[in-house]
Amino acid sequence: MASVQSVSKIGGDGDESNAKDSAFQRKQSVQNRLIPLLETAIAELCQEAVPGSIRIADLGCSSGSNALALVSAVVTAVRHQLGHQPSSAAERCYEISVYLNDLPDNDFNAAFKAVPSFLREHGEAARGDGPLVMVFGAPGSFYGRLFPAKSMHLVCSSFSIHWLSKVPQELVDGVLVNKGNVWVGTTSSPAVAAAYARQFQSDFIHFLVSRAEEIVPGGSMVLSLAGKPDSQNMRSEFIAEVLQDMASRGVIGAEEVDAYNVPLHAPCEDELRRGVELEGSFEIVCLESYHYIVNGPRGDATCSAEMAMAQCAMHESMLVRHFPADNIGVEFAKAAEARFMGVAAEEDTRLAILMLSLRRKKCSSHGCY
Ligand SMILES: C[S@@+](CC[C@H](N)C(=O)[O-])C[C@H]1O[C@@H](n2cnc3c(N)ncnc32)[C@H](O)[C@@H]1O
Repeated sequence: MASVQSVSKIGGDGDESNAKDSAFQRKQSVQNRLIPLLETAIAELCQEAVPGSIRIADLGCSSGSNALALVSAVVTAVRHQLGHQPSSAAERCYEISVYLNDLPDNDFNAAFKAVPSFLREHGEAARGDGPLVMVFGAPGSFYGRLFPAKSMHLVCSSFSIHWLSKVPQELVDGVLVNKGNVWVGTTSSPAVAAAYARQFQSDFIHFLVSRAEEIVPGGSMVLSLAGKPDSQNMRSEFIAEVLQDMASRGVIGAEEVDAYNVPLHAPCEDELRRGVELEGSFEIVCLESYHYIVNGPRGDATCSAEMAMAQCAMHESMLVRHFPADNIGVEFAKAAEARFMGVAAEEDTRLAILMLSLRRKKCSSHGCY
């Protein structure tokens, strides 16, 4: 698989770190919405025969306080299931291995700092009354293989796989120009929308092929990602307007703004369904979406600053790579804050989250596994 464009965030616990950025996702309870799907997947896993060694992975774990939140919910669900098994079955499970994946640029140190308290919460093995819980890092792109064949029982990923492996080549080569947008926005051309959709489908298939190798037959995968709000594309004009404002003040070049595109695609449910059917190794247990609105700051200075910081956290590493200007992150945050306080104060953003739960088939068109 070709190299992946890095979209990892700034690490640490500073204002622009993922710790702050993820506060937005926490608020929207993106991860919490996945928990019932994860609990069902664990209940089914333990129903057949409790595995002696359970291996789970979070793909795109990031670095803030959220990095261990999802796997913590999974380990809790496993322990809950073991508590409901006859003691001979429960005792069979002697270890739970947790794998945290993200791109190699991710600040894994910030994630690993939370491991001791995670283990204190879950590692009763030290007290002799539960499976040993261990945590491992797995740096690499989830668009390729990360784990040994047939090793994973449950793979989860929250709000990560809308990040593509790269911006579609036609936009990189300048064959297509996405003027006034930084991904497929409401004013992007159909050709740009089609190029992004093709890139998503190709990446999603690579993602499924890799996971199909790694997940045991009957094992599960539970995903959430940004989706298309209603039939509309997710607005990307706000970012483009902030960048154009910076260009009008000479901070960055106007032609650099037109060439700036973000490797992000918010698909609709059908794009996910089509990818799963095309790849063929998984059956869909559940596919659902929910929609919400992030209200504009309505003139609230603190809220404007927080929203600007969240945008900065999402874009800074990509801005730094694309624009040669010094302090591009600080300049972007200032321009975004001014825009939130001014023309964009009343702008509400419609967002959608897709949630997909899959089961690894025991037999597929590729043969029995
Ligand atoms: C919005 S954050 C989500 C963080 C966390 N899962 C949460 O729910 O708060 C997306 C994460 O996906 C990671 N990511 C993007 N593309 C990736 C890839 N190809 N392979 C692994 N991780 C990737 C980014 O580095 C980032 O940490």
